[in-house]
Amino acid sequence: MGSSAKPGWPLEPVSADLRRLIDACADFVVAHIDSLPEQPSFDVAGAAEVATGFDEPAPLEGRPIEAVLSRLGPAVAKSFTTAGPGYLAFIPGGGIPAAALADFVATAVNRFVGVAAAAPVLARIEAQAIAWLAGLMGCPAGTGGILTSGGSISNLVALVTARVAKLPENFLAGTIYVSEETHLSVHKAARIAGFPAAAIRSVPVDGRFRLRPDRLAAAIEQDKAAGRRPFLVVANVGTTNTGAIDPVPEILDIARRHDLWVHADAAYGGFFRLVPEGRARMPGVEDCDSITLDPHKGLFLPYGTGCLLVRDPSTLRRAHRIEAGYLQDVSAESVAPSYTDLSPELSRDFRGLRLWLPIVLHGLRAFREQIQEKLDLALLAYDELKDDPHFEMLDAPQLSIVAFRARARGGGDPDAIGAEILRRVNARGRVFLSSSTIGGRYVLRLCVLSFRTHADRVRDAVTALKEEARTLSGA
Ligand SMILES: Cc1ncc(COP(=O)(O)O)c(C=O)c1O
Repeated sequence: MGSSAKPGWPLEPVSADLRRLIDACADFVVAHIDSLPEQPSFDVAGAAEVATGFDEPAPLEGRPIEAVLSRLGPAVAKSFTTAGPGYLAFIPGGGIPAAALADFVATAVNRFVGVAAAAPVLARIEAQAIAWLAGLMGCPAGTGGILTSGGSISNLVALVTARVAKLPENFLAGTIYVSEETHLSVHKAARIAGFPAAAIRSVPVDGRFRLRPDRLAAAIEQDKAAGRRPFLVVANVGTTNTGAIDPVPEILDIARRHDLWVHADAAYGGFFRLVPEGRARMPGVEDCDSITLDPHKGLFLPYGTGCLLVRDPSTLRRAHRIEAGYLQDVSAESVAPSYTDLSPELSRDFRGLRLWLPIVLHGLRAFREQIQEKLDLALLAYDELKDDPHFEMLDAPQLSIVAFRARARGGGDPDAIGAEILRRVNARGRVFLSSSTIGGRYVLRLCVLSFRTHADRVRDAVTALKEEARTLSGA
């Protein structure tokens, strides 16, 4: 038996046992979090063996929680240490524990927030949390939105909403404008939404990887002349490769002239707006028709928390609301929107709590301090690397990403040297960086966004990069 249950209720542990189960999980979590700074920055050696150890028939009888958790520990260990201070790869966030507590409470009370009638106050709490994010972005009153599982789904919902707002039911002449640096999720969203690949125009970027407005305007004119229906432009507010911020005011100007929907993909960059320095770098975001934000990036929440803000929430409703007889008892809105009318989902978790609770528990000041520190740390890494003869910087950080290439000082292929530097730096186990390809060239990236990353770890990364580059060049 895994736990002692109430007689006749085999899935309901008695109270004392429930507490024991919770305590066991709490002990597991606290020990894990305490050990994060000492954990290797990644450890996937032998993962296949551990993985196949889980291939088994579903057990007929329960097992003790201690036995279950002791199997889970090694499974968690065989990973990139995404929650650790050394995680500087892709786009980190860390995952603040307060959000895990919120998830625990939300799933334990298991209220239904898909329709406002079923849990009006909880739906309102979620609406409030979304309104806070809209306020942080500088959006006007009346802006609405939804919480999603992440930026990919937010971009998909934005694209479908723009399509319904701007195009007829037969939408195949519709044309979408992105930059060469736009995230893959926008391309995926277009495909899922039924657009052929030829419906997307990749507009060239400038020397700092920002969409070129002149090329955007020309592409729109050309498509219109060819009988196409331009309807959407996606502006990047922090690209994944380098953190580039597109010129949103110019994009808005062009889009307004042609009645296009402007969507800001601020999944990575949006929350830098919490500090004056970041706000100054992204003018016009507040005027976009929709904005993707990823609280699991810049608000440090665990994976699975995205947000889409929409200036006119009636457009979300138009794109998603469908009536059904079996929902007639709960179709009226009360003090909050019914999220099923604004999004693809019906049944879903009380996602709002994992956003609301951390903000209330810690206060915005704590988040602001973290965001500012990340901007400062990226600059620290850039300043340390830019004068090193083994590296060539792609750009000064527009936000918290430092992108650079290896130079082949001792001869050889700089792309291969870059890849070998990355392998060696990561193999040290203190930090974990990732790479990309831009314009066909291999690029190293260092992205500072975890709330657990501080100056010591960024210095470790810089030292490791310099030492490994020097060793490889023989200098
Ligand atoms: C700019 C940008 N947009 C969208 C996404 C997709 O977000 P998610 O991974 O939360 O689906 C990412 C992810 O890194 C991103 O960097």
